[in-house]
Amino acid sequence: MSNKQIIYNTPPTSSIDPSLSSGTFRLHTVPRPEQVPADKVLVRVHYLSLDPAMRQWLTAKRSYIAPVERGAVMRGQSIAQVVAVGSDLSSQYQLGDWVVAYSGWQEYAVVGAREAEKVAVPPGGRPTDAMSVLGVTGLTAYFGMLEVGQPRPGDTVVVSGAAGATGMVAGQIARIQGAKRVVGLAGSKDKCEFLVRELGFDAAVNYKEPDWRKQLKEATPEYIDVFFDNVGGEILDACLARAARDARFAICGAISQYNAAKPQGPASFMFVISQRVTMKGFIVFDYAKKYPAALKELASWLAQGKIKRKEHIVPGGLEAAPQALVDLYQGANTGKMMVEVAPVGEAQTKAKL
Ligand SMILES: NC(=O)c1ccc[n+]([C@@H]2O[C@H](COP(=O)([O-])OP(=O)(O)OC[C@H]3O[C@@H](n4cnc5c(N)ncnc54)[C@H](OP(=O)(O)O)[C@@H]3O)[C@@H](O)[C@H]2O)c1
Repeated sequence: MSNKQIIYNTPPTSSIDPSLSSGTFRLHTVPRPEQVPADKVLVRVHYLSLDPAMRQWLTAKRSYIAPVERGAVMRGQSIAQVVAVGSDLSSQYQLGDWVVAYSGWQEYAVVGAREAEKVAVPPGGRPTDAMSVLGVTGLTAYFGMLEVGQPRPGDTVVVSGAAGATGMVAGQIARIQGAKRVVGLAGSKDKCEFLVRELGFDAAVNYKEPDWRKQLKEATPEYIDVFFDNVGGEILDACLARAARDARFAICGAISQYNAAKPQGPASFMFVISQRVTMKGFIVFDYAKKYPAALKELASWLAQGKIKRKEHIVPGGLEAAPQALVDLYQGANTGKMMVEVAPVGEAQTKAKL
């Protein structure tokens, strides 16, 4: 049996080139591993996570994580199924267990126990939640909102990238905390309607409409107490100009700048001084010790219907991943973007998605 892999081929100059013949990545096929070392498991990848940070992992700049090496399998997390277990791990894993695996972009991966976290599905949950609302994106929203943003009853909270995986959870957590007004920024009319109708945001602004700054002003009549920013660039700039006195700006990401040859900082920086704004960047891994308690709370909010989630699953197998990653930066997704590497129907029967 074979194992397809997607290899990091050529550093992009600005945007990723999704062509698998001459682009950022190339397709490689190797035999599927048959022997599993005693301290490893063999997993079959079913759903691959696509993350905005992947563009930065391809840049040799100082960051929170080392870049992917050219010639290596592209880094990535997946929902995978255990298909073979090394002898030392037979008490920990069973064939058919679902795991969140640090597998990379390939159909099969040999990983150690630290790279294959078993998925415990809580009431009302499903295994793919472990890569979205009950995984890194949900945790990012949780700690960014609660530890950095610290919304209080009566606050106006604004979230950018609000219809994305992290943003939609962040906005709903602000609502749970008693925010007076939760406002989202997103890139289409449909996304804005989804935020208001399905997720209960008070207002949503489509930043692709020409008068979006005016709409943002009208949506924040008492200015912004907490801004959860996934986007950076002009949106961060406009929100700084709407900052309330002592506002907290939780800087989670800056997707508008990830593909830019020359990233832009905010021009309205003086509002940090005049409005005494606290602006703090964070990386979710900093809160790793608090993950178990956070996951428990997120799972209980999910079970109670206080948090809703959405997935955007791209069909087409492993080969679909490079184009899907490009599409993520174009806003193709509402909710967590994943690539279906192998349909669930092909999974072992023991554990079903
Ligand atoms: N700090 C951390 O530890 C941490 C951890 C995970 C993720 N993050 C960051 O969190 C952010 C969201 O990540 P995610 O995984 O949840 O992805 P996501 O929000 O589900 O997907 C990305 C979204 O960004 C929006 N976008 C793309 N280009 C944009 C632009 N130029 N201006 C405005 N919006 C744009 C698109 O929606 P529209 O249609 O609305 O444009 C797209 O759907 C990213 O910045 C990511 O790097 C940070």
